[in-house]
Amino acid sequence: MNSHEPEATRLERATAYVHDYSIPKGERPVYHLTPPTGWMNDPNGFSFFDGKVHLFYQFHPYSDAWGPMHWGHATTEDFLSWQDLPVALAPDMLYDCDGCFSGTAVTRDGCQVLFYTGNARIKTPDGARAMVQQQCMAEGDGMHYVKSPANPVISADQLPAGYLAADFRDPKVWKEDGRYLLIAGARAADGLGHILLYESENLTDWRFASVLAANDGRFGDMWECPDLFSLGGSDVLLASPMHVKDAGPHFHDGYGTLAMIGSLNRERMAMEPRTVVPVDYGHDFYAPQTTLLPDGRRVMVAWMQAWENFIKPKTQKWHGMMTFPRELHVEGDRLVQQPVRELEAAYTDSVEHYGVTITGEAELSGIRGRVLDLEIDLLSLEGPQFVVELARRDRKYVSFTWNQERRIMTFDRGAVGDYYETRHDASAVQSFPVTADGPELHLRFLLDTCSVELFVSGGKQTFTSTFYVPLEADGIAFRADGRAVMNVRKHTIKVPETA
Ligand code: FRU
Repeated sequence: MNSHEPEATRLERATAYVHDYSIPKGERPVYHLTPPTGWMNDPNGFSFFDGKVHLFYQFHPYSDAWGPMHWGHATTEDFLSWQDLPVALAPDMLYDCDGCFSGTAVTRDGCQVLFYTGNARIKTPDGARAMVQQQCMAEGDGMHYVKSPANPVISADQLPAGYLAADFRDPKVWKEDGRYLLIAGARAADGLGHILLYESENLTDWRFASVLAANDGRFGDMWECPDLFSLGGSDVLLASPMHVKDAGPHFHDGYGTLAMIGSLNRERMAMEPRTVVPVDYGHDFYAPQTTLLPDGRRVMVAWMQAWENFIKPKTQKWHGMMTFPRELHVEGDRLVQQPVRELEAAYTDSVEHYGVTITGEAELSGIRGRVLDLEIDLLSLEGPQFVVELARRDRKYVSFTWNQERRIMTFDRGAVGDYYETRHDASAVQSFPVTADGPELHLRFLLDTCSVELFVSGGKQTFTSTFYVPLEADGIAFRADGRAVMNVRKHTIKVPETA
């Protein structure tokens, strides 16, 4: 490099690296957002700005592993094709030098304002080093962002007494009744996660308002990535607890997601949940975030990967992706999720079979593939189990098994044989109790090369997992122990070419 040239900033270096090393889109999933290269975790700043949906994400471009976090950035107008934009934030200030952690985006005076957690290992007065997390702000035009000179806008000193500066993160900001509200996860001295609420008139000066919700120890310890919104007459608080253990049949161990459905007591600014349900039952669903679209839809995306599972093939140079965006509704005590309807614009090669009876094993003509929307109405089952095998080749497959008597659905991604070198699969098999009433069962699977999102009973329950199996394994088979009658509809998904 010419010695007179200024050294590229961390942000420029990241964008240049992405430009040079982007993996062709054809080598990544078709209709799910993936990083152009490297590592992706949580969705951040999911928002509508300047006519487009923006989605930022936790990003480490330089390897397929987590590292100092940047904010990657993409936009879409149809939820099917995404345009990659320059890296939005890099860890380049003293207060965020160890990572620009998760956060949110709001619009003010025609500008897009990002809130994120500055993560920095800071020297303490006694000479030791300690991790400090503080809330920071950056303002931009939808493409380029400048960090606020007022950062951190909520410093660790603004934590109420007893909370730990090392675990204070993931701000979600919105405007309500003429002021801004911000919630973030924070760990109390007893190790449990609480959701703290701050308020501000100008986005820069914040004061602590209340503890919005507190973990009583039932759901893990720290709670990450909170989100709060009103929907269908209820208030819904989302949070992602770490280290869940023995929380009951509806909550798997490890990193989970919670939807607390109830009402926000606006005098005390405290959440009063009438129920707590998992957002998703699968292996690979974490840190969901929502936004409100101009047409009134509340839409959610989540990281479709998990901290515990690193099962991707070593040769794959990207890691982590987003779920397909889901439209949310609250029906009674349920959070109902459906893939956004834009997906239907990508339907091609549709095949339908009605009133098919199977006894034993069957494949159906035209029903195969790895990039699909597949719906099954199981009209009746005389016998104990019904199995759907996906990504099948020879005797290898991933499967969903419906045990009618126990009303349990079990996903198994362990029977894929030696297709890939398993680095670490915390639990290849995962089950959940199906709460659907009546004898019929409606299953809708979104497949996209290496992932499956299952929507049960119109999205009353969902199960999301990844499986990394070569694409030639594209068979789909049905198995009934006994006799099953079903309808099957399949649409291949083909995303229209963009310029
Ligand atoms: C959740 C999380 C957040 C944090 C980010 C760091 O997956 O741990 O709490 O901001 O990831 O990448």
